[in-house]
This record gives sequence, C-alpha cells and structure tokens, in this order.
Amino acid sequence: MLKTLVLAAGRGTRLKSNTTKVLHKVFDKPILSWVLDGLADLDQEEIVVVCGHHSEEVKDFLHAYPVTTVDQEIQMGTGHAVMCAAHLFEEFEGTVMVVNGDSPLIRSETLSEMYSYHKQAESNMTLLTSFLDKPGGYGRIVRRNNSIIGIKEHKDCSEAEKTIREVNVGVYCFEWQLLKEGLSKLKSNNAQEEFYLTDLVEWAYCQGLNINNYILNDPREALGVNNRKDLALVYKLKNKHSLEQLMDNGVTIIDPDSTWISPDADIGPDTVIYPGTFIQRRVSIGSNCVIGPNAVIHGPVEIGSNSSVVQSHISRSSIGDHCNIGPYAHIRDGSDIRTGVRVGCYVEVKNSNLGDGTAAAHLSYLGDADIKSNVNVGAGTITANFNSFTGEKSETVICSGASTGANSVLIAPITVNESASVAAGSVVTKDVPENMLGIARPRQEIKRLPGAKV
Ligand code: UD1
Ligand code: CA
Repeated sequence: MLKTLVLAAGRGTRLKSNTTKVLHKVFDKPILSWVLDGLADLDQEEIVVVCGHHSEEVKDFLHAYPVTTVDQEIQMGTGHAVMCAAHLFEEFEGTVMVVNGDSPLIRSETLSEMYSYHKQAESNMTLLTSFLDKPGGYGRIVRRNNSIIGIKEHKDCSEAEKTIREVNVGVYCFEWQLLKEGLSKLKSNNAQEEFYLTDLVEWAYCQGLNINNYILNDPREALGVNNRKDLALVYKLKNKHSLEQLMDNGVTIIDPDSTWISPDADIGPDTVIYPGTFIQRRVSIGSNCVIGPNAVIHGPVEIGSNSSVVQSHISRSSIGDHCNIGPYAHIRDGSDIRTGVRVGCYVEVKNSNLGDGTAAAHLSYLGDADIKSNVNVGAGTITANFNSFTGEKSETVICSGASTGANSVLIAPITVNESASVAAGSVVTKDVPENMLGIARPRQEIKRLPGAKV
C-alpha cells in the first residue's frame, strides 16, 4: 500500500519572484504539474500535497488533479512540512513516498523502480540518491562502513563532508508506522533554523532501522529548482529530451540548439522544423509539414499534414492539411482553418473560420468571421468587427465562392452571399446578395489640373 506526499509549500526565496516556486512554468506547465505527472504511474491510494506559500493559487491549480491538500501555514522546513500532513496517515499501515515538489525531471519509471526496490529490500526507509560532480547545495549522504548514517545539508557540512559526491535527491520511501515517531524528535538547531526532513535518517539509524538507497541512473533527474539558473537548465533538459524523441520518430530538426518543442508535442514523420521555432505545449502536427524558420506555436493547436508555417505566430487554433501559413501571419485564438487554405503575409486571423480552398494572401484583418470555402479575400480586406461606441463585436459571413476586392472594409454584422463580390476600395455596410457585386466607393472623376495645358 502506497501513498505519496508532495512538499510544495516553500516560497522559493532564491527565485526572487512574486510567483511561488512550484507554479513557475516550464513549457507553459507549472513545475508542480511536472512532478505530479511523474507520480501518475504509481499504484497509490492517495496523493497529498502540502501547500503553504501562496496556498490559494496552488490549490486553485490543483483543482484539476485528484489530490488531497494540506496546509503548512508557516514554512519551517521540509520536516515540518511532513509533520503538517502526518495526521492524514495516522492509521496508515503502508509506505509513504515523500517527494520534493521542486524536482520536475524525475521520471515516473524512476519512482516506480525505487518503490519496487524499497519493497523487495524490505526496507524501512529508502532514499533516492545520485552522484554529482558538483554536489554544491544538495544534502550529502553520510556513510559509516558503507551504511547510511545520516544526511548533512550543504550549509551544515564540514569541508571534508562537502567533498562527498553522493547526494540526497529529495525522494524518500518511509514505512510510516515505524518512522512517524521520529518526526516529533526533529530539531531546528542547524544553519537554516529549520526542521529538516533529512534529520530523520540519523534518527532511523539510531533506532537500528533498515535504511537503503536507490541510485538514479541519470543524475540529471536530480535537479531541483532553487533559482532561475536551475529553471533555465530544466527547460533545456526537457527540450533536449523532447527533440531527441521527435528525431527518433522521424522528424527533421535542422538546428536543435535553436529549436524549442514541448515534450508533449506530437509531430508526424518527415515534418521538417527549421531554426528559431518555439512550440509550447499541447500541439499536434501531422507529417510532411514545414514549420519555421521562426514559427511560434502556443497550444492547443492542431495542424494537419503537408502544411507549412513560416515566420508566423499561431495560438489555440486548428489548421488543416495542405495549408500555407505565412510568412508573417498571425493566427489568433479560436481560429479554424480548413484544408488547402492560404494565409499570407501580414494577415491576422482571430476567432474565425476559413473554409477549404480559401485564400487570404496579403495584408488583412479577419476577426469573428465565418468565411466559407473557395473565397478569395483580397489584399487589405478588413472585417470591422468592433463597434467602439457599444463595445460589441459582430460577425462577418463570407459565403462560398465569394471574393472581396483589395482594400475593402466589411462593417459587421454583414454577409457577403455565395459567389458575390465586393469591389475594391469599398466600405460595405449592407449584405451583398448572391452573385451580385457590392460596390461602395465614390465614383472616380477626371478633372483638369489647374494650369495644365490641354
Ligand atoms: C532539499 C533537501 C536536500 C536535498 C534537496 C534536493 C532538506 C532539508 N534538504 O534541500 O537534502 O539535497 O532538497 O533537491 O529537505 N518545502 C515545504 N515546506 C518548507 C520548506 C520546503 O513544503 O517549509 C518544500 C519546497 O516547496 C520544495 C521542497 O520542500 O518543493 C524542498 O525544499 P527546498 O527548500 O528547496 O530544499 P533544498 O534546500 O533544495
Ligand atoms: Ca530544492
């Protein structure tokens, strides 16, 4: 029987931020969410999260997760955080796995393997440890005759202890009924005047309990986020892993050093990603696409196959097969672009549908518009969707086979019916009927220039 306890109450002073540490994001997803993903595969009865600093925001975020929360109103250290949750495990006869909420790189496989090892070794306490070349900042695993006798926090280490390379990663399996008593024995007479959870190890050793460690295969998983440099490193490592997986799956990444793709992106084979591309989470792209250079895509976004997105920005929209987007297009939230659509240079599309075969090739603003199939949107067409007096937004409908001339302004609400046309330079305020031409511009006059010779 297993329950997990995530410590997420700390402020993260070293980040120097108004946002609490565990809500800092990597690929648009809070650190805490990455940590919870790592727990997802464990066969556990309950996940408990200790909240403290900015607890309301953390709890709001946790609403989407099946977790129990508990408060640590004043943050007096990791040992104190566990004490605040202890009443929830009072009668629990199994293992409590305690996980630091600021270690987003630990994989779910690692946690499952560690738990299996803990059970198989009939361990009373198992620590996740790693060997680091530069162990600065981490708690050191102190051994005597090879047995673990304690953890020394970096700030409390002697010079000799600082040379120990084996560190505490911040994940522990505790046989709860054997270890809970030790929590009440923790003291705060240390460099940080906190109740360290790590002091439980020495207590357990003195009780003669069976303490073991499980070593990380990949020491990079040990990284805990304490400052902005750690955050940048987490971003880099998540990205590296994500790009490697995509390349293994048949995606060409021309320059991994200048390409950023969220690990949850799904990209089909033979798609080529050009340099300078940034793909945030929840993006799916089909096969044989060309993305970039310099494409920015904020999910949720779905792009079909055989499409291109060049030097463009797309957010929360869907794009079909055989589309050409950009260069310099801006596809904003809520847009649905179907098959074989062209959205060209300096075209902004917001909350609009563009049907099959439609083209808006140059210099347009299409907002709150329902544009059906095979429409030709002329250069410089503007849907005037916003009434600045009432503050209301209205819809423009352009039916199949219609076209708008260059520099036309469609004052919404308005409909251009099937196969109708709007003449270039028109400001149209009334619906244009099927197969008709709407023309709304002053007639051209020809006048003699003053003083001109006949
Ligand atoms: C901790 C360990 C250290 C280990 C390192 C691994 C202790 C005393 N030290 O140090 O041995 O090498 O993690 O990354 O545990 N937290 C609370 N309440 C508090 C204080 C912290 O919930 O009162 C939470 C934080 O939000 C964080 C986690 O506990 O998620 C770890 O706290 P942090 O202050 O980052 O500990 P480290 O100094 O990194
Ligand atoms: Ca930390």
